[in-house]
Amino acid sequence: MARKKIALIGAGMIGGTLAHLAAKKEMGDIVLFDIAEGMPQGKALDLAQCGPIEGFDANIKGTNDYADIAGADVIIVTAGVPRKPGMSRDDLLGINLSVMKAVGEGIKAHAPDAFVICITNPLDAMVWALREFSGLPHNKVVGMAGVLDSARFATFLAWEFGVSVKDVNAFVLGGHGDTMVPVLEYSTVSGIPVTDLVKMGKSTKERLDEIVARTRSGGGEIVGLLKTGSAYYAPATSAIAMAEAYLGDQKRILPCAVYVDGKYGLDGLYVGVPVVIGANGAEEVIEINLDAEAKANFQVSVDAVKELLVACKAIDSSLG
Ligand code: APR
Repeated sequence: MARKKIALIGAGMIGGTLAHLAAKKEMGDIVLFDIAEGMPQGKALDLAQCGPIEGFDANIKGTNDYADIAGADVIIVTAGVPRKPGMSRDDLLGINLSVMKAVGEGIKAHAPDAFVICITNPLDAMVWALREFSGLPHNKVVGMAGVLDSARFATFLAWEFGVSVKDVNAFVLGGHGDTMVPVLEYSTVSGIPVTDLVKMGKSTKERLDEIVARTRSGGGEIVGLLKTGSAYYAPATSAIAMAEAYLGDQKRILPCAVYVDGKYGLDGLYVGVPVVIGANGAEEVIEINLDAEAKANFQVSVDAVKELLVACKAIDSSLG
């Protein structure tokens, strides 16, 4: 069987980390695409030279030519600009929208059968725009946000309870922004709801509220510390988990930005909800019960995403 092909559009901090992870895991051959000349070629060469040390078989090619992504099974998009301190993800809208147009057209022309994972921010609007520009089916274009946001939430919960992160299953819904909805009722430690752990005296409602707030601003906290860009290790790791679910037909239920049409009261919107990821891409949106507070918070998040789409349409009339 031929090796799988992973194309990474954007060879910056996340793109380079994705390439390293995918190569180490021998997920397939890798193409690193970027508009910067020489940079993806240089990173590809550097990464290829990890092969003899780490013992992985993966061809890694750097390119500035979309023709090289032809036949890709998975495409992960990080092209665009990241945040600097003081910026919100939404501040990136105008510039990254034009990047999504170029990337979408490149995918449409050269790899229309790929499963596409978008990471570029503001995520929920960019994944929608990328789908529009590429013309791919909705089930083949998803956004990476919920896996990362849930991992941040899980990390903070594990620290709070003093338990292994392996035993924490945390859950975040909604858009990938300050309005995201960490859901305590569906977050567990070895199956025990964290709300029960509070009743057992293992933490307090106030502490969990602080953790929810820290999760919501988890990306901004890292931007503030790095000062030169945004997070890349955990975002890359999250997208790799999604790519593996697709390539391995794993049927994992992962929170992703997916096209929701008919569930959660939505009629065609990209937003973060749990979805089954398998060989057919985003196979089934899972609609979970939300209490009144989570429902209201989800609605705020949905409204924030809708506002971004209005802004996108005002910038690019072809998105009408
Ligand atoms: N086509 C391809 N690549 C592009 C394009 C384009 N039209 N425009 C910019 N790029 C490339 C840049 O040259 C750069 O190498 O995208 C890369 C982005 O890399 P970084 O600046 O290092 O950003 P990174 O930290 O990887 O984040 C990328 O993911 O999480 C989001 O908010 C983040 O939107 C940002 C994206």
